[in-house]
Amino acid sequence: MNNNINNADLKNRDLDVLWHPCTQMKDHETLPLIPIKKAHGVYLEDFEGNRYIDAISSWWVNMFGHTNEYINSKIKEQLDTLEHVILAGFTHEQVVRLSERLVALTPPKLDKCFYSDNGSSAVEVALKMSYHAHFNDGKKEKSIFVSLSNSYHGETIGALSVGDVELYKDTYEPLLLKTLQTPVPKDMSLEAAQYAAKEFERLCQERASEISAIIVEPLIQGAGYMHMYNAEYLVLIREICTRFDVHLIADEVMVGFGRTGELFACEKAKISPDFLVLSKGLTGGYLPLSVVLTSNEIYAKFYCDYSENKAFLHSHSYTGNALACSAANATLDIFENENIIEKNKELSAYMGEKLKAFITQENVLEVRQTGMVCAVELKGYKAEERIGLKVYQYGLENGVLLRPLGHIVYFMPPYIITKNEIDIMMDTALDAIKSL
Ligand SMILES: Cc1ncc(COP(=O)(O)O)c(C=O)c1O
Repeated sequence: MNNNINNADLKNRDLDVLWHPCTQMKDHETLPLIPIKKAHGVYLEDFEGNRYIDAISSWWVNMFGHTNEYINSKIKEQLDTLEHVILAGFTHEQVVRLSERLVALTPPKLDKCFYSDNGSSAVEVALKMSYHAHFNDGKKEKSIFVSLSNSYHGETIGALSVGDVELYKDTYEPLLLKTLQTPVPKDMSLEAAQYAAKEFERLCQERASEISAIIVEPLIQGAGYMHMYNAEYLVLIREICTRFDVHLIADEVMVGFGRTGELFACEKAKISPDFLVLSKGLTGGYLPLSVVLTSNEIYAKFYCDYSENKAFLHSHSYTGNALACSAANATLDIFENENIIEKNKELSAYMGEKLKAFITQENVLEVRQTGMVCAVELKGYKAEERIGLKVYQYGLENGVLLRPLGHIVYFMPPYIITKNEIDIMMDTALDAIKSL
């Protein structure tokens, strides 16, 4: 490693050769890029020794802190044994063990694991598998996907097609699959859940013969401005899906692995989806990996002689990567050995208490919380004021990485955060909001 590197040097070299994700690059004429030298626990550190609390778990992936000693040691062990092997025709211990554990930990009737390497590609897998399962049943006309208004499922063409956040979708509209949207429950109340489920039922009554699946983000729509809704909605649509032979795809890419307070959000509703999509926290935030779990019943629809042409011939080069699977197994070890879901209850109650200070601010419309995710919705600003950017900059100047979604300031920290660090994280955000 070159020890002479400094912030300015790396920034300039970066802007010469990199194009960053989800960024208007011209912003960097005024908005400084932050080169990170190292990270540990909840802290990121730049080349000048400035430290930032990672309040957003580096895009919602980090579970147990950066450079976690246990996960590091497991990846290093794996590195000297097997880094990667083709998963078609071959297998390895890490992927088998991970699959056994996921099948045991996820809701009932999720019996088989199909791997890919990011959330969007896993969404593509679930959509294709759903359609293909109906196709193999002779129901080729079931080719439409339904998603919730305000939903987000990723950036590849299929995933974007089932999304509904204009900011990401509008430009690409001519390229996208035709999909249908049904209203998301408008708030966390039971009535809103019941009303929205009725709307979905009405859609099924009219068009179920064409509908392959509904895809939902259970309980929290992440990129859809941290919108939250009641678990009863999942109970109701599960029943409707079964009645109308429509698959239920639960996209737990963001909410999985404890974010909602349970290991998986579907547990809150005690339902089993037909497809469960996981990524992000799966490897503790270390390496790209995603998985779609489905039932033996769906698996059986593809299982026959090769000549019958029913196999799911989908693949990615890095499917089931051994290093990523070892990170995932290490992550599950920590969940298991350290009683994380129970311990998080205390952290989430503490964050809930601290949220109360936000609601009294006159530029705050609402605060909401589900488990380890808290959101503060600001009011009274126009989009062009880019209020989120101001909060982001204030956070960085004061040692906290907040990355608001428009006018929503939210907290989704790694689970190793201490109460003292929660104080710094949330007090800084409160000061930022007061300073607007
Ligand atoms: C619910 C949900 N699904 C899918 C994705 C896409 O995952 P990835 O960014 O790994 O492609 C995201 C990303 O934020 C997400 O929040």
